[in-house]
Amino acid sequence: MSLVELQDVTRSFPGPPEVQALKGVNFAVQEGEYVSVIGPSGSGKSTMLNLLGLLDRPSVGEYRLAGTSTGALNEDQRAAVRGRFIGFVFQAFHLMPRRSVLDNVLMPMQYSGVPREEREPRAREALERVGLGHRVDFRPGSLSGGERQRVAVARAVVSRPRLLLADEPTGNLDQATSAEVMSLFEELNADGLTLVVITHDDNVAARAHRRVRIADGRLSEVA
Ligand SMILES: Nc1ncnc2c1ncn2[C@@H]1O[C@H](COP(=O)(O)OP(=O)(O)OP(=O)(O)O)[C@@H](O)[C@H]1O
Ligand SMILES: [Mg+2]
Repeated sequence: MSLVELQDVTRSFPGPPEVQALKGVNFAVQEGEYVSVIGPSGSGKSTMLNLLGLLDRPSVGEYRLAGTSTGALNEDQRAAVRGRFIGFVFQAFHLMPRRSVLDNVLMPMQYSGVPREEREPRAREALERVGLGHRVDFRPGSLSGGERQRVAVARAVVSRPRLLLADEPTGNLDQATSAEVMSLFEELNADGLTLVVITHDDNVAARAHRRVRIADGRLSEVA
């Protein structure tokens, strides 16, 4: 069964002028796959990731997540599915600057049904896993870019999602640091997590097991 399935999905923004950011996209991702998405600026990559993450809805077409059609879900149901199934990593990290690293990783578990007493041990374990067990009490501002992104990855996986969506996760990182984040993604994928990663970086794209390209709102497989 596909974990993720877009069927004939179009997303238009009314404008004017109207923009069809995605045009009749068909895209299925099997559980355990690691897919990278490449394509020029403005081609529709983030639009697709927002749909996959239930942050946005198709204008036309259907999105099935884990076999369930998402079109009929209301906002609360979508938030619940998001909290349980999906983790996000963004280029700009989006950490809470006034909170500790530990608090940042604890935060999403408020919405994901993890029992209260399990939250802190899980957050610490996730931070150990990304190599930041010694930084739990730091504020994000005192960490390097690579460390901040590793906190963001810990936050994204602490609720044990089935799908990790990343939008230019290495866009703000130098080559050595992005290699660290890539290794982390590979470990997570080896443990069964499904990944969809948007990137402009061919080295990052090449690490995925499958590549797709979006050009002018249309998706195609890369051989
Ligand atoms: N909320 C919106 N309202 C109107 N147009 C939008 C909106 N979001 C995206 N678009 C348009 O849809 C198209 C695709 O945008 P999208 O953000 O998906 O591109 P992208 O491939 O992620 O680009 P980049 O690599 O620069 O991040 C662009 O033409 C953009 O202007
Ligand atoms: Mg984008």
